[in-house]
Amino acid sequence: MEEQRLRCKQLKDKLMSAEEAAKVIKKDMTVAVSGFTPAGYPKAIPLELAKRGENGEKLNLTVITGASVGPEIDEKMTNAGVIGRRFPYQTNRTLRKAINDGKVKYVDMHMSHVPQELKAGFLGKIDVAIIEVVAITEEGYLIPSTSVGEINVGVKLADKVLVEINTTQPLELEGMHDIIDLPLPPHRKPIPLTRPEQRIGKPYIECDLDKIVGIVECDIPDKADPMTEPDDVSFAISKNIISFLSKEVEAGRLPKNLLPLQSGVGNVANAILKGLTESDFEHLTVFSEVLQDGIIDLIQCGKIDYASGTSLTLSPEKIATLKEDLPSIKDKIILRPQEISNHPGLVGRLGVIAINTALEFDIYGNVNSSHVSGTNMMNGLGGSGDFTRNGYLSIFTTQSTAKKGVISAVVPCVPHVDHPEHDVMVVVTEQGYADLRGLDPVERARKIIANCAHPDYRDQLEDYLNRAIKESPGQHTPHILPEVFSWYQRLKETGTMKEQ
Ligand code: COA
Repeated sequence: MEEQRLRCKQLKDKLMSAEEAAKVIKKDMTVAVSGFTPAGYPKAIPLELAKRGENGEKLNLTVITGASVGPEIDEKMTNAGVIGRRFPYQTNRTLRKAINDGKVKYVDMHMSHVPQELKAGFLGKIDVAIIEVVAITEEGYLIPSTSVGEINVGVKLADKVLVEINTTQPLELEGMHDIIDLPLPPHRKPIPLTRPEQRIGKPYIECDLDKIVGIVECDIPDKADPMTEPDDVSFAISKNIISFLSKEVEAGRLPKNLLPLQSGVGNVANAILKGLTESDFEHLTVFSEVLQDGIIDLIQCGKIDYASGTSLTLSPEKIATLKEDLPSIKDKIILRPQEISNHPGLVGRLGVIAINTALEFDIYGNVNSSHVSGTNMMNGLGGSGDFTRNGYLSIFTTQSTAKKGVISAVVPCVPHVDHPEHDVMVVVTEQGYADLRGLDPVERARKIIANCAHPDYRDQLEDYLNRAIKESPGQHTPHILPEVFSWYQRLKETGTMKEQ
């Protein structure tokens, strides 16, 4: 390991193997780990915990992360049966199955709430924090790697701290973080941040040296998925969003360089970033949680001036060039704790344009982001609520159908609500967009059906709405209550939501 990675003399004798470090973690403990998406999470110690599970040890750990993390934790530890309870977000197939089979207890939370609830003691005591760092300074300060998430709080609250120094993460990441800890009420003060590019904290996490009980060298890289080229549907959605934003600029409701952007991860988010590269927008800023490849491309081509987030989630190809890329982007990217990146007050103050993805939305604009057919957890709501409720503009995207057309993503009534109609301003599919601002529920329904539903389902939705208007006892939000979830019943019985 390079000299600069472990610069604190007092901590040199804490270097140990991952196996030895993992022994600190005992049955029924609560462990807070770093990581927000498969970026900046510990790998070597979790693999040792998984080994102990495979050897029959019943660890039953509560695992708290920033958001989703990589397979060393969510797949390997789940398969080994060592996770009993998991907060606050995941995206892993193995863990998802364990959650939906009732084998892992899962608490799906707003990202911004996690640090506060930890500090307030709502989630119990943290026994051990495991943090991935690029280096430890002379003073013993911890320099996080590709994410911050909740770990500044985890390190502060935990009885004991384990550190993984990841030698695959470039040392050049040092200086990109901006760490600040918010006190609990009634001791809060205004957060001095009025622009996404402002730095208001320190570039490291402070930790009492006596709490650091083990330091492990790790050479396993972050495991973000490779970038796939966005498909035609994603490009069509992106075109519709850019057309909406352009019209808002023309109408004088948005400045020419828009307002700070937040967008989710995945195909559509990528397509939006690609669309922005080709658009006329310039001097854009980003105030988001996850910063993907596309953000770096947009900074390098001069479209984005500054990007603030809590994780740098890069494809293997981008990770390979990160060392060379960092000098040109370092002063334009800021990695913050999720308590700041997702802070509802800051999202409102900066006037963020929130663009998130739904599984489905209903004719009145209620959004389901997390529960397939109402009962099966997909991922969780992640940061979407932090940005949606408080954004200057709140946009939801989805393709108009799923599973080769047998599922309509526009339904009479969603069976699970992550974002109520009150928080949702614009919905977008590849068919078009529906601007819902200022519309009453029936006006919203007519617009959503006409502009966003797939043509195969429009008549069916119109028919439901017209019958609901005739039969509903209340005319504000007309519904035929015994029928609202019949589309899911039909899907279960016939394999399609389409009426035969
Ligand atoms: N009913 C059933 N399944 C559906 C569906 C619907 N209405 N819509 C999509 N799906 C399925 C897809 O078929 C796909 O299944 P597969 O994995 O078996 O292929 C899966 O859900 C993912 O859908 P996809 O169209 O590929 O979209 P995505 O990868 O962009 O994910 C969400 C969409 C909603 C699951 C994802 O954005 C999410 O988890 N959002 C909540 C978290 C969030 O918004 N965080 C904030 C920003 S990071």
